[in-house]
Amino acid sequence: MKTDLIIINANELLPMNSNGKPVSGRSLNELKIIENGAIAVKDGKIIAVDTTDNILKDFELNDSEQVIDAKGKTVIPGFVDCHTHLVFAGTRENEFVQRIEKQRNTKNVMMGSGIQYTVSHTRKAEKEQLIQLAKKRLKRMLSQGITYIEAKSGYGLDLENELKILEVHHALKSLQDIEIESTFLGAHSIPQGYNSKEYTEIVINEMIPYVAKTGLARFCDVFCEEGFFSKEQSEKILNKAKESGMLLKLHADQLTNTYGAELAAKVGAVSADHLDYAYEDGLRAMAQKGVVGVLLPTISFVLDLNYPDARNMMEMGLPIAISTDFNPGAGHSESMSFVITTACLKLKMLPIEAIASATINAAYACGIGHKVGSLEVGKQADILIMDAPNHKYIPYHYGINLVESVVKKGKVVHQNHL
Ligand code: NIG
Ligand code: FE
Repeated sequence: MKTDLIIINANELLPMNSNGKPVSGRSLNELKIIENGAIAVKDGKIIAVDTTDNILKDFELNDSEQVIDAKGKTVIPGFVDCHTHLVFAGTRENEFVQRIEKQRNTKNVMMGSGIQYTVSHTRKAEKEQLIQLAKKRLKRMLSQGITYIEAKSGYGLDLENELKILEVHHALKSLQDIEIESTFLGAHSIPQGYNSKEYTEIVINEMIPYVAKTGLARFCDVFCEEGFFSKEQSEKILNKAKESGMLLKLHADQLTNTYGAELAAKVGAVSADHLDYAYEDGLRAMAQKGVVGVLLPTISFVLDLNYPDARNMMEMGLPIAISTDFNPGAGHSESMSFVITTACLKLKMLPIEAIASATINAAYACGIGHKVGSLEVGKQADILIMDAPNHKYIPYHYGINLVESVVKKGKVVHQNHL
């Protein structure tokens, strides 16, 4: 049979088999590793995954357009970054320095004023300028092995500018290789000149109906947090979005417990993200409803705040995803490898659990688990070849990029050479 690509001899190949749902609880221990693994690809899809010996019985290397020898390497699914604030102008390196100075005395995170700074710059930016800024970030993400992202608006905070960001998401889909799921986060902060009650009404009555009509956002997200949107306001916004046909996400319990986890379960969100201060009852309700918990440990690292109890969450059967939370505040990094290392060291996740959280579970966290996130027959061939002799080496050798080749839809789209 003719194939487009065969990768052979991988020291380890991690298929991240999921049985059609995110990996949680006991199934985390059943994640298998294929030694001397191989994978065959045709028309952008995976057609076989097995040991190299078995693949060579079924396929002729001569019949493949391209053959990659992954001897000494580890093959894993492309990273899915399921929580990013990709499109903005106005970086905040000054805040980074101010935070260091403040952190010497207090735990002041300055979230609100920081968002306003980025909003003012994003409002002033032309669409083309935002496209160019985001393209560079996407290029860096691809080089770091990220093959699919979710991207949120949220630095416009008025209809015109939120639409401008959502249009940038749309334009970027055809300008580069990473696929994008678009999220409307009009309720990211309260714009100057309004109180939260007034702005909540605008989001519900003006923004959501218009955004829904354009079809520019598959998801709606809310920053449910003290000083931003209360649980009641978040619920109203999310219910309106649901009625309008959008899927739901939440920034939940990041800085305080705002009962965001409970709310995520109640409204049937696809994911609830951050969860650093979530209570156990809310987490259990999420587990019961199949809401994915997205943990963002590099944000806690940068802000020097609480880490969630990921081991307890895993024990209660909550599926866990991890993400960069790429944003101009505490998340200005496109490195998923750094997130994986932080998840291992600070959330006490095993390397295989952290990698599953950055691939298959992350895919479920943004509604694409049926299509990507694992190396299974029939799925899209989004594959990484890592310059690592085994998967444990990936978080262990930290702070550098171990991605050697990035395969997107069956084609090598990026290579990093030492
Ligand atoms: O997910 N928590 C709210 N939003 C972002 C931060 C946004 C910013 O600081 O600009 C987050 O961490
Ligand atoms: Fe975020």
